[in-house]
Amino acid sequence: MKNKLLFLGPPGAGKGTQATLFCKKYGLDHLSTGDLLRDEVSSGSLLGLKAAEIMNRGELVSDELVLSIVELRLLKINKGWLLDGFPRNIYQADALKKLLQKINQPLESVISLKIADDYLIKRLLARGREDDNEDVIINRLKIYREKTAPLIDLYSKEGILESIDGNADIDVVFSCIEKALG
Ligand code: AP5
Repeated sequence: MKNKLLFLGPPGAGKGTQATLFCKKYGLDHLSTGDLLRDEVSSGSLLGLKAAEIMNRGELVSDELVLSIVELRLLKINKGWLLDGFPRNIYQADALKKLLQKINQPLESVISLKIADDYLIKRLLARGREDDNEDVIINRLKIYREKTAPLIDLYSKEGILESIDGNADIDVVFSCIEKALG
């Protein structure tokens, strides 16, 4: 099973849900920049306060902050890992590539979770996280299309992208991911 992974997809596609299940089953380190940023917000730090404002608008926090968080974590990892919510634009993808070259652990596979817009809006409204209200969801989706979706083409050209239907039930999506990575 491949163990240097990235799960990509719009908000609500199920990246976090599937990444949690996968890391538990296969003993990988789950690196979610959204979770790490929410931890920073909960700590009440100045950085967290600034990040919260941006996250609650559905915008991307600065590349500099995200990269510093990811680099610290990746440099400490000595087993397989799964990136969730990072990279989110071409700049972050380039920085990740350089970082992975430095630690000699190239990305092996990217799972692209596809989901219909009406499904994802329903899912996120039902979850009700602070950034899960309709206006912010629509902005997150817009930012995803502008900044993150181009990564699909990038990783497809590298020949490491697998597309999975994220509209199905959680266990069905999980089996498809296992099959794709097996
Ligand atoms: P982040 O936390 O990464 O949020 P997101 O990408 O918007 O993704 P979500 O967590 O909403 O969705 P998901 O795909 O993980 O779905 P989930 O499994 O949770 O980022 C939040 C913010 O942080 C960003 O907007 C930005 O401001 C900042 N940020 C983070 N990373 C950054 C970066 N690299 N650079 C800059 N800024 C960054 O599922 C959603 C719901 O659906 C759950 O309730 C779940 O139970 C349910 N569900 C999941 N799968 C299914 C299924 N198959 N069937 C039915 N329900 C399902």
